[in-house]
Amino acid sequence: MAVKVRDRLAADVRRDLSRPRKRLQPRCLYDALGSRLFEAICALPEYRITRAEQRLLAAHAREVGEGLAVPVTIVELGAGSGEKLAQLMEPLVRAGVPMRVELVDVSATALDLAARTLSRWPDLPVTGHETTYEDGLERVAARRRGGGAVLTAFLGSNIGNLDPAAGLAFVGAVRSALRPGDRFLLGADLVKSEAELVLAYDDPLGVTAAFNLNVLARLNRELGANFDLERFAHRAVWNAAESRMEMHLESLRAQTVEIPGAGCSVRLLEGESIWTESSYKYETAGLRELGAAAGLGVRGQWVDERDRFALTAFEVPESAP
Ligand code: AVJ
Repeated sequence: MAVKVRDRLAADVRRDLSRPRKRLQPRCLYDALGSRLFEAICALPEYRITRAEQRLLAAHAREVGEGLAVPVTIVELGAGSGEKLAQLMEPLVRAGVPMRVELVDVSATALDLAARTLSRWPDLPVTGHETTYEDGLERVAARRRGGGAVLTAFLGSNIGNLDPAAGLAFVGAVRSALRPGDRFLLGADLVKSEAELVLAYDDPLGVTAAFNLNVLARLNRELGANFDLERFAHRAVWNAAESRMEMHLESLRAQTVEIPGAGCSVRLLEGESIWTESSYKYETAGLRELGAAAGLGVRGQWVDERDRFALTAFEVPESAP
């Protein structure tokens, strides 16, 4: 693990576990094992986001990429396994469009997986950036050459981890890194019934519980902490007022945990929880407004009605600065 990554983890943990309401950044969930557990979640019948998005990409990838100025630079924020990206690129590859790919992810494992998936096209230049979205966007903008267009993809409802203010700031940052004629493809999960949502985040096999608890195991491994995983339980709750799923790790008893690598110790009451993730759920109009607020026009929006998932293709207007 890169020193920078460990320092960021230690700083995140120290700050977030000393808040009155204890929390951890969702990105802490994605070490090597966490990334693989997330891949397993995507294969669960109860977690329908991944398959819904694949179907939409299979049906609409052509429209998303049509007419982009060449050579095209595809940027994926939050690389995942690369499968969805491959789906998006398929029609462009088939049409012989010159392309290169820039992957941005905090997880080296995700970058490796994605690069391996894309190696089915041996001549395609692929660059990985093991860093945060913000930093990755800056690096990609700095590496930009020539007149081709950029298609930035933020898929899998990764935007769900951001609260509304952060989501708006994020889309604004994406917009700033783009130029007229560039596009931004956003995949976002939509509001649906509480029962469906809770099942998707608390599956009967316990894969999501393992994914959540792994963050504590990671702090044990990487920061020398002494979390006893048997003393915590996975909780998934729908917060209707905020339109978000929340994942928590509930302390099953009063306990104190030492985290030497973050230079702190944490006291938890029985029933107190560590909030590890939010997954905001959107409405289609809200997604269009989010883009509009950042100065992006809508080129297309496609909805999977069965699983309530939306793909929205935004474009920077040609007249924009
Ligand atoms: C990768 C953030 C989109 O919020 O649905 C899956 C992560 N957490 N199950 C999501 C996740 C629990 C996922 N995102």
